[in-house]
Amino acid sequence: MTAVRAEALTRTFSTSAGEVHACVDIDIAADPGELVVIRGASGAGKTTLLNLLGGLDRPTSGRVWIGGTEATALDEDALALLRREQLGFVFQSFGLIPVLSASENVELPLRIARVAAAERDARVAEALALVGLADHAAQRPGELSGGQQQRVGIARAIVARPRVLIADEPTGQLDSRTAATVMDLIGDLVHSQGIAAVVSTHDPLLVQRADRVVELHDGRVA
Ligand SMILES: Nc1ncnc2c1ncn2[C@@H]1O[C@H](COP(=O)(O)OP(=O)(O)O)[C@@H](O)[C@H]1O
Ligand SMILES: [Mg+2]
Repeated sequence: MTAVRAEALTRTFSTSAGEVHACVDIDIAADPGELVVIRGASGAGKTTLLNLLGGLDRPTSGRVWIGGTEATALDEDALALLRREQLGFVFQSFGLIPVLSASENVELPLRIARVAAAERDARVAEALALVGLADHAAQRPGELSGGQQQRVGIARAIVARPRVLIADEPTGQLDSRTAATVMDLIGDLVHSQGIAAVVSTHDPLLVQRADRVVELHDGRVA
């Protein structure tokens, strides 16, 4: 089954300067174990599209499915549950909580999902090992490099075993060599864990890791 699929997605923002057509009639899909990269210049509509796919925003028209569930047909509570159970998010600015250790940051989604303590510990250790940070579990974000912080962000995103990983310019704050290793990690995880990933970037080098590339231009698939 396709892990995430969208049909005829359109998102129009009304602003004081008039209507902004951020996404226009976009079809997109990712299968389990597939890395789809959304490429486009700043303002092309990447963040808007990822927010729609991740159920963080509602389309003006069009539909989104996560697995067999039509996300766009759900009410807010059901959508929040779907996000928690089936989606993982990675952010450009990492989004880690500074006063928590790496392992505590990774553990948060499991606490929210009320996973029992012993299982939380096992899953956190597994996720940190998958991103190569088993030896850094006790460190706080400020004690880690940018690349390591984003690895913690990736561990947090996959710890609840999501069907779909959504990452908006996850390497945008990293130097090019670190960016390449983080993108390699995302590709490896997607393939080994069978997660479908939709990742945006404007870095042409990172596009090489994609199983499929979707090029956005002014809100449309080029
Ligand atoms: N909440 C919003 N209100 C009005 N316009 C928006 C909003 N979010 C995005 N836009 C506009 O939509 C277009 C696409 O933005 P965005 O999805 O952030 O592009 P990208 O992530 O590729 O840089 C831009 O013209 C942006 O200004
Ligand atoms: Mg953006």
